[in-house]
Formats: sequence, C-alpha cells, structure tokens
Amino acid sequence: MNILNSERWESGSDFHWYNDFDKENATNSFYNNNILLGTGRYALRLIIEWGRIKYNWRRIWIPSYFCPDVIESVLLTGIDTEFYYDDPIYGCNIYEAKYINGDVILVNNLFGYRSQPNYDSLPRSNIQIIEDHSHDPWSDWSINSSADWCFASLRKSIPVSDGAILWSPVRHQLPPQPQTITNHYQASLEKYVGMLLKAIYLQGDPVEKEYYRGFLTRGEKQLGISKISGITNFSRQQLFKIPIDFIRQRKNQNRDILIAKINNLKTFQILQPDQTPNCCPFSVILYFNTTRIRKIFFDSFVGNKIYPAILWPVKEELNNNLPASNINFSEKMLSLHCDFRYSSEDMNRIAEIIIKELNK
Ligand SMILES: Cc1ncc(COP(=O)(O)O)c(C=O)c1O
Repeated sequence: MNILNSERWESGSDFHWYNDFDKENATNSFYNNNILLGTGRYALRLIIEWGRIKYNWRRIWIPSYFCPDVIESVLLTGIDTEFYYDDPIYGCNIYEAKYINGDVILVNNLFGYRSQPNYDSLPRSNIQIIEDHSHDPWSDWSINSSADWCFASLRKSIPVSDGAILWSPVRHQLPPQPQTITNHYQASLEKYVGMLLKAIYLQGDPVEKEYYRGFLTRGEKQLGISKISGITNFSRQQLFKIPIDFIRQRKNQNRDILIAKINNLKTFQILQPDQTPNCCPFSVILYFNTTRIRKIFFDSFVGNKIYPAILWPVKEELNNNLPASNINFSEKMLSLHCDFRYSSEDMNRIAEIIIKELNK
C-alpha cells in the first residue's frame, strides 16, 4: 500500500479513504444518464418496485448461491421468490425453470468470473431479466449486456462509502431518481469518517484501530436498510475522479502475482474465471479441502492481519432447499482481497504467510 507504515500493515476488510488517483485518466460516462443509488440493495429494490407497478412482476428467481443481505432486502418488497441452481463450482442453470408471465430472473456475475449467458432460449416476451454486476461493474458482459435491467454496487470495487448504479441496456424507461434520505446520508457519513480514520491509522498516526473499526461497522450496519435512497453528494463527486482502468489493471496484476505464488499447493484450489475477455475478478478465491483446514487458515490470516471474506455464510432460513454443493462451498471458501490498494510486495507477503502456514 502506498501509505504503508510497516507496523500497521494489514490487508483486506473495508477500504480506507484513498484519493491519490491520476484524475486525468478518470472515465465517467458510465455514470451519466443512469440512476445512482446509495447501495446495490436499493437499486434492486427500486427496480423490483418499478417492475411490479409497470410490468406486473409477481415472482423473482434468485440464484441459490447469493448474498443473504440482498435476499433479505428482496423479501422486503413483498414479491414472491423462487431459487434456481447456481454454484461457484458447477455454474448456474437458468434454463430449466418453469417460467410464467410476470416472472423476473436475477442473474449474478458471481465473483466477476462468469461469461455472458445466452438468453435466446428464454421466453423474453413474457419475462424480464435483471443482472447484478456488483463483482465486476465494468466487465465486457456488463457493458454489452442484453438484459432488461442491470445494477451494480460500486462501493465494493472503488473507495466510496456508498454508491450503486442502475441502468437498462435495452432502454426501458427508468424509474425516477430517488432523493438522498437523511438516514442513508448519516450511515454513509459514518462509513466515510471510518475510511478517513483508517487511512490515518495506516499512515502510523495516532488513531486506535478500535476507533476506526467502530465507525466502519456502525456505518455498514445502517447501510441498505432504510427507505430507498439516492447516493450521497460526496460519493457522487468521488465517482467521477476514480480512473476505472487503473483500478481494474492493478487488481488483475495483483491477482496474477498472488496466484503465481500459490498455484500448485495441494491444500486448496484457486477458483478460475470462465474464459472471458476483459474480466476483472473480484478477488482471489481459495477453496479449501476441508472446513477444518479453512478455519486453520482463516485464524492464521487474521493473526497476520490479513482479513479475508467469506462470500457468503449460508442462511438456510432464507432458502430451505439450499443445494448441498452451495453449503459445501460456503463452508470451505475464503476470498482474499487483491484490489488497487495493494502492491506486488503486499501480494508476496500474503503468499509467504500462506506458504509458512502450509509448512508448519
Ligand atoms: C453480489 C452482490 N450484489 C449486491 C450486493 C449489495 O450491495 P450493497 O451492499 O451496496 O447493497 C452485494 C453485497 O454484498 C453483493 O455481494
């Protein structure tokens, strides 16, 4: 990391505030003429509410392997839900469901690993398709999408405390842009303060880790759970200053560096994306041989100040037909951050920690 203070080195978890971009190269046409929301969940809720009024949507098909917080926010809209099979290893099957008029399918570019699906065999005049591009908002698939609707949470890929985008590749009429509401503004502001404090902490200045963590956790808990809100003005301004090509190139380089060092180890597999041009996968996904070994590595990572994510812990109460392969994957995976914050030295350090743990 550029602002690295060696005693405070850490990797993963929330972004710190970072503004040291080459703003000359920032590209911004993606954000024009589309709707900017506070979170991905608001984007999805907004489009579901719009689709229920405008197109009489009655039922949404959700991938079986999906973010539980997002499923919970879909349930808030009152639309009926069904699940179709989707799995990080075995892929997704949107083709065999029995669709009826008023159905809408939610398709996810899981971990940014997927190639663009072919929708030709689907009854497109009776059903609509929403795509979730949160894991790689600027992929070729996202840019060339043929779905009715697309959305992406932006705050997972770039350092903003809130932000998501909603658009219609086939140019359906978009819903009106929602206002930014006070509760959302306050939640995002709390996160923003946490990001600033984390940046100060990483520089070695006097901020307690618990202090910035408190702001980040409180902010995160409040995001996405209020009335549907537009993006805050401070995140909107920031979007236009972040050079996406740089963000994507650096992540891909870091990913390659880390994978090259840990590729042939027997304790885990590394998930690989479909062969698809111009993709920028979300992270390095390790799939361990057993849940016990996953735990050993998780503890070792945290002990070395590397904070991986579990995407996602299963919540069987949300889908009581959750496929066994989904549960198995969820219990054995870890997602390691490799985004623009990090340098090749950071990736080497993570690889060394992994190899040291293996040699214990
Ligand atoms: C695939 C995916 N889509 C949507 C979201 C929701 O994004 P947000 O947290 O901005 O509501 C998440 C959140 O983690 C996600 O992982």
